[in-house]
Amino acid sequence: MSIELRSDTFTKPSLAMREAMANAEVGDDMVGEDPTVNRLESEVAALLGKEAAVYTCSATQANQMSVWAHCERGDELLIETTGHIANYESGTPAILSGVSVRRIDGDFGRLDVQHLEGQIRRDDDHYPPTTLLCLENSTNIAGGRTYSLEHLERVCNWAHDNKLSAHLDGARLFNACIARGYSPADVAQHFDTISTCFSKGLGCPMGAILVGSKALIKRARRARKVMGGALRQAGIVAASAIYALEHNVQRLTEDHENAKRLAEGLAEIPNVNIALEAVETNLVYFEIDPAWGTASDLERIAAENGINLFSVGGAQRLRACTHLGVTTEEIGEAITIFQNILT
Ligand SMILES: Cc1ncc(COP(=O)(O)O)c(C=O)c1O
Repeated sequence: MSIELRSDTFTKPSLAMREAMANAEVGDDMVGEDPTVNRLESEVAALLGKEAAVYTCSATQANQMSVWAHCERGDELLIETTGHIANYESGTPAILSGVSVRRIDGDFGRLDVQHLEGQIRRDDDHYPPTTLLCLENSTNIAGGRTYSLEHLERVCNWAHDNKLSAHLDGARLFNACIARGYSPADVAQHFDTISTCFSKGLGCPMGAILVGSKALIKRARRARKVMGGALRQAGIVAASAIYALEHNVQRLTEDHENAKRLAEGLAEIPNVNIALEAVETNLVYFEIDPAWGTASDLERIAAENGINLFSVGGAQRLRACTHLGVTTEEIGEAITIFQNILT
């Protein structure tokens, strides 16, 4: 069995989670009659301090339902250059909502007011109206970094002062909360909508959720139907999310500790460049010296030696991701294998 460091999407549901799923009460969610989905939606809305929530198939779908709910066709959204919504969702803002995307360089995936000033189009028929700001917390491709609450407040106030809506891609919201010691509601108070995902570090087989006001979630529900994502007896999978919220949130600390352990081990190895202070959550990004080879070379050789990881975001850059399917012992083994390969 390989040590699986490609992504936290590779987590598998535990026996206890499967039992919770098997025992779930179900109904037709399309007409609001699945009691387990209803429970999940009201618990997550309460956890984030918002009026309503809608359960979805995936984080991509939750993000795109949000874009649909906030924007009119022809609008433009602002996002950091590396943002998932802009780069890894198959161009869906344009395909599904007719919304164009403007990428803005930030700091490790995080936008601040100084990056955003002057980026709103003026009211002129040459330009698409700028109506939405999308942030990511924690960031993915930019390195698993998190925002402080003051930072979020500043940027979202800027958005609202400029009549933009604010959406958070919180696919790894709980990682950010555990790393920073703030609550999901502390974060959510600054945003109009927040998506979060159950099938990454929380270990569910699928599912995500979008949270916001009743009016926005009503629009998002319609978007979910349009996108073919309306659900029927989805309580079976919603039960995994309820289980995950009860059992798999606090344990994210272990994943963050393992990520730090791995990063410190990698920092000792020749031909590896890594910024230790950038490792805040469960994502470890590092670069390989071109004198040794490329990231693709390391991805291939590591796989041959029992470690799966991704080369991503540049010829020399790789990502290793810790999660509930990777033990501290395996992190130690991975460091030894990397040492052997790279020295
Ligand atoms: C920040 C972020 N947002 C959204 C997603 C989309 O998740 P999914 O591919 O499960 O829809 C991901 C997936 O890795 C992500 O990292």
